[in-house]
Amino acid sequence: MKLRTALLFVIIAFVLLASAFFVFSSRHRDKTIGAILSPASWQHMVASGELSKGHAFLENKCAACHTPVKGVEAKNCIVCHADNLAVLQRQPSAYHANIGECSACHLEHQGRVATTTKMDHVALARIGIKRLERDPQRGGADVAQIKRWLEEAASSPQPGNSGPATTSVAAQFALSHLQPEEALLNCAACHSTKDRHRGLFGNDCAQCHATAKWTFPDFRHPSSASQSCSQCHQAPPSHYMMHFKMISMGVAHMKKADVNQCFLCHQTTSWNDIKGVGFYKHH
Ligand code: HEC
Ligand code: HEC
Ligand code: HEC
Ligand code: HEC
Ligand code: HEC
Ligand code: HEC
Ligand code: HEC
Repeated sequence: MKLRTALLFVIIAFVLLASAFFVFSSRHRDKTIGAILSPASWQHMVASGELSKGHAFLENKCAACHTPVKGVEAKNCIVCHADNLAVLQRQPSAYHANIGECSACHLEHQGRVATTTKMDHVALARIGIKRLERDPQRGGADVAQIKRWLEEAASSPQPGNSGPATTSVAAQFALSHLQPEEALLNCAACHSTKDRHRGLFGNDCAQCHATAKWTFPDFRHPSSASQSCSQCHQAPPSHYMMHFKMISMGVAHMKKADVNQCFLCHQTTSWNDIKGVGFYKHH
């Protein structure tokens, strides 16, 4: 868990440094590179798959993306894509401002497909680790230790990347579905705006969620007759204030109730669906 916390800083850094990277070089770069490298000699050296739809216009301009000797460089992509505010201003993709590597999640030469994008959380974590190696100061994490841990996790069938599950619902979705690298990521730094649970399940999304999709096909919610609600659900802050005695208990017509007895007052459909009262509208 400690290692994980350490790497979180790196990934958070992607997000926090976003604004620092808005200035990119001139948009005429592909011309310069084209002059250095003769397109004819380059293009016919190797056969590669067709470019995606969006990049089809670069079919005769390999050097727009490929730098001689070095290969595909992020700065070539950035020349054309630095000003994509839609991407930069969304929490999950804000790291684009300074990630510095592109092709791990944008695969080219797959034919005339509509998109090159394939989100890869493992690649994301690896980029984070590489950064740490280059700049160990940032985040103050011990890269050698992280790498040792990853090797161990990779060679053991049950990756030791989960702390003890802290809630019983978390126990149902043990961390074994995550790749060890993914366990290093701070999910909430990129996904808190998508938190369906309004923070009430905590910030450690990886306790329960994998990275392919948010849903669990096997999840069945306990019945509304269950009395174990508080094993999984934490009450909102208002329930630990005067509000609970003065408003909540009154609305639910409960003379005696403990905050932890959610089942006395709540249905499982929605938190505003109060037992014996119906849908409660806030004013
Ligand atoms: C829109 C950007 C783009 C253009 C234009 C482009 N490529 Fe690529 N190419 C890529 C990416 C991305 C990769 C994957 C590199 C990686 O995995 O790091 C790649 C990989 C390759 C590879 C595999 C070897 C390597 O360098 O990884 C070859 C060969 C290649 N390209 C040839 C070409 C040729 C020839 C052209 C021109 C006809 C071309 N490319 C135009 C983006 C581009
Ligand atoms: C860790 C994976 C990852 C890396 C690395 C990455 N991207 Fe992306 N990129 C994505 C994902 C996922 C999206 C889709 C975001 C969304 O749903 O809006 C995206 C979206 C984009 C888009 C907008 C696509 C559209 O549909 O309009 C552009 C342009 C883009 N990326 C360029 C880049 C460039 C340039 C780099 C390198 C500096 C880069 N990306 C690095 C994952 C990545
Ligand atoms: C010469 C300018 C230019 C270069 C260089 C370039 N692109 Fe593009 N790219 C475009 C244009 C134009 C489009 C199509 C319009 C659009 O969707 O923005 C596009 C589309 C895209 C898209 C959206 C469609 C999709 O595939 O999902 C992504 C992502 C993307 N480029 C990533 C990259 C990456 C990564 C590189 C470097 C390997 C790169 N681009 C290099 C100009 C460029
Ligand atoms: C640096 C940012 C970042 C971090 C950290 C991160 N993600 Fe993501 N994640 C993304 C992006 C970008 C996408 C692509 C979809 C989008 O743009 O909304 C994505 C997609 C997903 C999806 C699929 C969503 C869908 O509807 O297709 C899930 C599930 C997910 N992430 C879970 C996680 C979990 C769990 C963690 C922690 C282990 C995590 N993510 C860490 C940026 C991140
Ligand atoms: C204690 C376990 C647990 C934790 C921690 C947790 N979730 Fe969930 N989450 C679930 C369960 C179970 C569902 C219901 C899935 C279903 O109905 O298929 C769910 C549903 C979701 C959904 C809606 C899926 C859908 O489309 O129906 C999103 C989005 C989501 N969680 C995001 C997050 C984020 C972001 C975090 C971290 C800030 C997080 N979750 C933390 C257990 C958890
Ligand atoms: C085993 C753990 C668990 C138990 C026990 C449990 N819940 Fe849930 N509950 C969840 C998860 C996971 C979700 C789905 C994620 C979400 O929507 O926040 C959920 C969702 C809900 C929602 C929907 C929230 C929304 O806005 O969509 C309500 C209401 C709810 N539970 C009430 C209850 C009540 C009342 C009880 C007791 C009778 C109870 N739960 C018992 C795990 C549990
Ligand atoms: C005495 C009855 C009672 C008990 C016990 C109770 N609640 Fe509530 N709760 C209410 C009522 C009434 C409301 C709606 C009016 C309000 O905000 O007080 C509410 C509102 C909520 C809301 C929505 C708050 C918001 O800000 O939108 C959540 C979430 C919630 N309760 C969760 C819980 C959980 C979890 C428990 C158990 C750990 C619990 N409640 C116990 C009566 C109760």
